[in-house]
Amino acid sequence: MSVAKPARLPARPHFSSGPCAKRPGWSLEALSGAWLGRSHRARGGAGKLAEVIARSRVVLGLPDSHRLAIVPGSDTGAVELALWSLLGSRAVEMLAWESFGQEWVADVTKQLKLEDVRVREADYGALPDLSAVDWTRDVVFAWNGTTSGVRVPDGAWIPEDREGLAICDATSAAFAMDLPWDKLDVVTWSWQKVLGGEGAHGMLALSPRAVARLEAGPAPRPLPKLFRLTKGGRLNETIFEGQTINTPSMLCAEDALDGLIWAEAIGGLQGLMARSRANADVLQGWVDRTPWVANLAQDAATRSTTSVCLKLVDTPADPGRMARLLEEEGAAFDIGGYRNAPPGLRIWCGATVETGDIEALLPWLDWAHDVAAREAEKAS
Ligand SMILES: Cc1ncc(COP(=O)(O)O)c(C=O)c1O
Repeated sequence: MSVAKPARLPARPHFSSGPCAKRPGWSLEALSGAWLGRSHRARGGAGKLAEVIARSRVVLGLPDSHRLAIVPGSDTGAVELALWSLLGSRAVEMLAWESFGQEWVADVTKQLKLEDVRVREADYGALPDLSAVDWTRDVVFAWNGTTSGVRVPDGAWIPEDREGLAICDATSAAFAMDLPWDKLDVVTWSWQKVLGGEGAHGMLALSPRAVARLEAGPAPRPLPKLFRLTKGGRLNETIFEGQTINTPSMLCAEDALDGLIWAEAIGGLQGLMARSRANADVLQGWVDRTPWVANLAQDAATRSTTSVCLKLVDTPADPGRMARLLEEEGAAFDIGGYRNAPPGLRIWCGATVETGDIEALLPWLDWAHDVAAREAEKAS
């Protein structure tokens, strides 16, 4: 017997892992106060940018010791700015277990061509051995591997007394997971992820040790203006007060503010994490009772609560076909696995997604699987 097509669609079928769903209730009206057609360096514009920084600090619980800046180029810009500005004076350890970690490995080995680089890699679904990491080196890693749905379980593997810098790409973790700020020297994220902002700018948080590295001497390479955080050998503090390096989108800044104000209204970081966990729990319950699907993450302690990645097991159904069917029906957008990841499904469970919409999605997944499996059987 075939699985009946569900009667009810998710109210918002937006389950993309970036750009992620807008916050519930969002409309263009939310941007009506944007500082448009004016200089971002005028008092009102600079004030908006400073407010993005200030509200981000509060929601995330960033310690006073850490600086925070808005930088160009979304999360990639923030990560590359950090790699180009900071690496080179010490040996480096790169951790990679999915596509984005691999991108940073390529940056460091093929573009920066640093000499003493050790790469610790793991396949999709696993983590490299975190206990083997050599903290006399600078260490680069993503907190949550968005394309494999595998995250580090916590910060216990990062020592307080590390000699190298902990450089963390946290774009699908910030605002959704507990980040141990005292153990992270560089943390990056973008506006388009957990708070559902627009793809535009990156955020770069620096610990005092990262600032000390910047001020210890210039990076051993030419730096484009877009990457320059120091002036006369000292940190350019104005960048961390909202005087961005170049011109930002004030429309996107307004949207980022809207997301932050919503985050405060639902209980700040605890509220955001609770929503994400509730979404991931509902999805996991379905995974656990469904025979043809399994987590790509091998260890439950490393399962992402934002980018949940699933593989199909013992079924002829093609996940790409399932994703297309669900898009055609308006039941789920953008849930095919990442282009470089093993074939599968990826369902965003961050805070801007409503748990009711995850619940409404589940019968659609069963339906799409049934259709795709039948088609595959017929074709074989
Ligand atoms: C872990 C991680 N790093 C980097 C990126 C790239 O982000 P952006 O496109 O905002 O530069 C992403 C995007 O999904 C990501 O998930």
